[in-house]
Amino acid sequence: MKITVVGTGYVGLVAGACFAEFGQKVVCVDYDRQKISQLNAGEVPIFEDGLEDLLTRNVAAGRLSFSHDLPVAVPGSDVAVIAVGTPGKSGGETDLEHFHRAISDVLANIDSRLILVIKSTVPMGTAARTREWVKQITNPDQRIDIVSNPEFLRQGSAVNDFLNPDRIIIGGDSRHALRLMREVYGPLEKRNIPVVLTSNETAEMIKYAANTFLALKISYINEIANMCDHFGADVTKVAEALGMDSRIGPSFLEAGPGFGGSCLPKDVKSFVNSSKKRGYTFRLGKAIISANAYQRRAVVAKVKSLLGSLRGKRIAILGLAFKANTDDVRESPAMYVIKRLHHSGAKVRAYDPAASAPARREVPRIQYVNDAYAACDGADIAVLLTAWDEFRNLDFSRIHQSMAQPIIYDTRNALNRDQLGKLGFVYFATGRATLGDAKQHVETVAAVARKKRKAKPARKRGPAIAGIN
Ligand code: UDX
Repeated sequence: MKITVVGTGYVGLVAGACFAEFGQKVVCVDYDRQKISQLNAGEVPIFEDGLEDLLTRNVAAGRLSFSHDLPVAVPGSDVAVIAVGTPGKSGGETDLEHFHRAISDVLANIDSRLILVIKSTVPMGTAARTREWVKQITNPDQRIDIVSNPEFLRQGSAVNDFLNPDRIIIGGDSRHALRLMREVYGPLEKRNIPVVLTSNETAEMIKYAANTFLALKISYINEIANMCDHFGADVTKVAEALGMDSRIGPSFLEAGPGFGGSCLPKDVKSFVNSSKKRGYTFRLGKAIISANAYQRRAVVAKVKSLLGSLRGKRIAILGLAFKANTDDVRESPAMYVIKRLHHSGAKVRAYDPAASAPARREVPRIQYVNDAYAACDGADIAVLLTAWDEFRNLDFSRIHQSMAQPIIYDTRNALNRDQLGKLGFVYFATGRATLGDAKQHVETVAAVARKKRKAKPARKRGPAIAGIN
């Protein structure tokens, strides 16, 4: 079978490499010539564990190639997989420009019966609309089957997720297409991985229902964490005990600053938006969006309440990526937090093991440093926002000595609280009891600052800024 995959982002590239690994002949196409040149030179433009090996092996075996020339790649294909980006627009709309362009370019170059596989995450009802559109723009005797084949790949572990999925979803109304798609995924089905054959609409719904459920689970534990803060309970214990209930399960119960990334925030908004268009109010979806927005705002509010005024305060930020093991800062809670802190007059110094460059492009005005120690040096508070393993292994006694005030706000509950307590840190977390008394430090520092101000000759003050104490 010959498969053309359009789009070489983490979904398209991983899917293409894995289809080749299953023994199919695959061409990965992208309009970005530079990306294709990189791939042809053996360079991998994104970091995904295990991807480089997979690409090298399948290119060497002659099963996998890359091209920017869609008219050359498509002819002779049995299957065309659309895996281009579908970014979110304001109001929950989805930008389908690349998706439509990819399909019309594929259709302009086909020479035989084709299965058009939608792997990009598209709003509910897109497969049906695409089927109608395809009918209008193609020959009546041209047979094109539309299959919805959503993916559930996490950035950072996409190869493993593709090769070891919990299930494979294939939606469509043509027996021929469903049979061929089962053949493509044959090596996984042979390993008893369940294949769910269904309609396009149900396949689309499964994708949104799954991602929204994950978002719901995270928002749920975040809300419970906020309740724990009020009642003196420990959310990590609550999550552990909830996870022991086989009906609930242990994953996606880590409280923190809220979910981010290129998928969950966009997908929940799109799901709410699709339901609204059909005249239904998806109340729970709206609640997830609101709870998630609150969670990142709450981080800023907590820092403000700890330090009093933020003007001139030195704040160390540990982690910028939306989760550990990626350099992606899209919709990252950390990006929101640094923008707000900066706008409130704080001096923000940030470190991330991988995401400083993309963060700097989005927020150039703060200071980016090369390690966590440099970020914490002289800081009034250190705020951990991404749970990189590296942060767990820091020399905290060195950090304790170098900070102006030894206050750590661990928004991800990632650090060893007892160890930090013993070292004399004031430790704040999400849904866990605080160790030590921040006020004592903040008041001492404020008193020193007052003394310094008194010693200096008085300067004319600017107007007060709204929202800042
Ligand atoms: C997600 C889905 O998991 C995947 O199935 C889909 O195909 C794409 O979207 P990804 O965006 O890579 O994958 O990230 P994921 O690991 O799901 O984490 C999403 C966000 O939730 C991150 O910001 C993460 O930090 C946060 N999260 C996750 C929590 O705050 N707590 C948790 O317990 C789990």
